[in-house]
Amino acid sequence: MTTIRLPGLVDAHVHLREPGYEHKEDFYSGTAAALAGGVVTVLDMPNTVPPTGTPELLADKAQRAAGKAVCDVGLFVGATTSYLDAYLPVAERACGLKIYVSDTFGSLRIESLSLMQRFFRSWAERAEGIGFRTRGAAAGLGPIAVHAEELMLPVCLALSKLYDVPLHVVHVTRRSEIELIRAAKERGWPVTCEATPHHLLLSSEDAARLGPLGDMRPRLASPDDVAALWENLETIDLFATDHAPHTLAEKGITAQATQPPPGVPGVETMLPLLLTAVHAGRLTLDDVIERCAHAPRRIYGLPEPPESYVEVDVDAVYRLEDGQMKTRCGWTPFAGQEVWGRVTRVVLRGQEVYAGGEVTALPGTGRVLFHPEQAR
Ligand code: NCD
Ligand code: ZN
Repeated sequence: MTTIRLPGLVDAHVHLREPGYEHKEDFYSGTAAALAGGVVTVLDMPNTVPPTGTPELLADKAQRAAGKAVCDVGLFVGATTSYLDAYLPVAERACGLKIYVSDTFGSLRIESLSLMQRFFRSWAERAEGIGFRTRGAAAGLGPIAVHAEELMLPVCLALSKLYDVPLHVVHVTRRSEIELIRAAKERGWPVTCEATPHHLLLSSEDAARLGPLGDMRPRLASPDDVAALWENLETIDLFATDHAPHTLAEKGITAQATQPPPGVPGVETMLPLLLTAVHAGRLTLDDVIERCAHAPRRIYGLPEPPESYVEVDVDAVYRLEDGQMKTRCGWTPFAGQEVWGRVTRVVLRGQEVYAGGEVTALPGTGRVLFHPEQAR
């Protein structure tokens, strides 16, 4: 057994589903799954019920997370058509603002240019008011994170450039998109982006085999699109999973379902899948550490927890199985896949929080980032 030590990882895109969908996941089950994957910080998305769009709803989420989480949690606020930018007074307590410009699961979708202008302008003004453009050393605001596919991508790039707001493009999948982001970066535009393990490792050719378990937004892309992501690895700032649990019944596997919701879990399988790519010579270990630890902390201005690390047995070879998963939904689109590297131990702020396949931390051990009153 060869054990290596990695910094605690960050998954900058997870859906922990609380409040409203606790039958899919909650702050305990989702953060337990994170620890099993060597992740000590997750950034939670706002498409819950109700969506995280007001100071009260953000505070409520922070309180729920503080009571249950076993790893650290940052919370996104979300742009909505009903609360508009009601979150603004507490913008610095969110890790960022999420705007859904393309279709996906949940009710959050912005379709008008005037609303988009309003959200970018008000985020810029708020950042100006605080005196920081980016969060840097934990001061200031996080970026605006957008789910923007196809023609919506240049719209968001233009608004970010015009209002000088850092833009983070979540789960990029297409050749056209990654090449556009590369061109914007080459001109010094304030943009960063992420790719998910499933969009890097699966393609539309896997979609029929996986059925609803391979359906997510953005959809699995063509082999040429996948090749473009690998060709443009330098343009991909970070890897994040878009951990989006739905039950097997909802997906139509163990029950009839007329419209299975899009989304697949991923927070606990990211590291073994990426280490398997390292083993295959497709990535270096430094590529993984940069994109799963350093870059997300830099982009979102996340504090690095002291005395925190992950131990991985890099000789362990095993198959990912639904039954091993700690996510409440209990499945993975990578079931049956052989992987290299098993997380054996996780230490957070000097405390062992995961060992031998079990979470050893008590609920509430995790901290809610940017909510100092929730720190214990
Ligand atoms: C996500 C979900 O289920 O919340 N689904 C998905 O297919 N990715 C929503 C999202 O991230 O767009
Ligand atoms: Zn998502």
